[in-house]
Amino acid sequence: MEIKLQNLTKVFQSKKEEETIAVDNLDITIPSGKLFGLLGPSGCGKSTTLYMISGLLRPTQGKILFGNEDVTPVPPEERGIGLVFQNYALYPHMTVRQNIMFPLENVKMDKQEALEKAQEIADLVGIGHLMNRKPKQLSGGQQQRVAIARALVKSPRVLLLDEPLSNLDARLRLQTREEIKRIQRETKITTIFVTHDQEEAMSISDEIVVLREGVTQQVGRPQEVYNKPANQFVAKFLGTPPINIFDGRIEGGKLFIGDSQIASYKGKDQEVSIGIRPEGFKIVERSSFQVEVDLVETIGRDTTLIIKHPEDESSTFRAIVDADYGVEPGDTVKFNVKPHKLHVFNKETGEII
Ligand SMILES: Nc1ncnc2c1ncn2[C@@H]1O[C@H](COP(=O)(O)OP(=O)(O)O)[C@@H](O)[C@H]1O
Ligand SMILES: [Mg+2]
Repeated sequence: MEIKLQNLTKVFQSKKEEETIAVDNLDITIPSGKLFGLLGPSGCGKSTTLYMISGLLRPTQGKILFGNEDVTPVPPEERGIGLVFQNYALYPHMTVRQNIMFPLENVKMDKQEALEKAQEIADLVGIGHLMNRKPKQLSGGQQQRVAIARALVKSPRVLLLDEPLSNLDARLRLQTREEIKRIQRETKITTIFVTHDQEEAMSISDEIVVLREGVTQQVGRPQEVYNKPANQFVAKFLGTPPINIFDGRIEGGKLFIGDSQIASYKGKDQEVSIGIRPEGFKIVERSSFQVEVDLVETIGRDTTLIIKHPEDESSTFRAIVDADYGVEPGDTVKFNVKPHKLHVFNKETGEII
């Protein structure tokens, strides 16, 4: 089921007559049968968008289409959606089986058929052996799977997940996210996955949208957005450790940080912001981009050099290099910058140049 958001806007009016534009003129097409990540920092309008798609919130302006059907005036229970929240929201006094079957009580389904359907879905999400337990007898990851099973049992057209992994510890989060990916692949239900965690969104999604203050920044496949960020906000939001930002300039077809020439670069002479991914540095014999290493961190197979910022002694930047160089604190190193790890932004607007 393809979903189209057309000029979708939500304005909240608070008591003091203050307006919050939580979602600002979103125009997105969510492809059928895919897992779509809605990504952005806390407060950027992710949940508000999801609740408008579910029908729990009415848009101030704009339309929501499921396929060719305009569902904007359709109440939530008639949209054919399954919704999963961060906090599971299971009924504590009911067993797993009763929780999963609950949505079927309002539809006229034969008891035996409902039992079979519940078992089938529970097996699909890997909790088929826990049907007689109560939620408090389950781990967080298992509880979240019950919530997913409950959302899936009515065979929704669309599955909506609002930060479903936030309450899980790191290991369970990883495991459950792989599980969600598998379930989505098997069921092929169009799924919207909301998260503020860029790594989570990047790893699980077929496509992502990055939101900032209710406004779309970029839509695309995760690697595409990572490799070709539309602006400095997106570049900084994706990737750990984050991209390094330097003040620089384009002058005579060359790109400079201070007096160091970083690369050749087409563009009119101007002051710019230069973004270089930590993995974008290469240690070389000869280069005018010469820096002094402050600290060396080796974690697993990565060696990270922490280096004093060339123009601001009070801050540092990070370069991930091959451990074989044997760099030590206090060493001077010379860098080349890998062209595809280098991004140049308009100093005022932050847009990519
Ligand atoms: N019911 C509401 N009344 C007023 N403001 C709200 C309401 N719900 C959300 N907001 C505001 O709308 C913005 C977006 O919120 P939300 O969609 O919950 O963000 P996210 O899910 O990305 O963290 C925030 O500034 C938030 O404070
Ligand atoms: Mg939210």
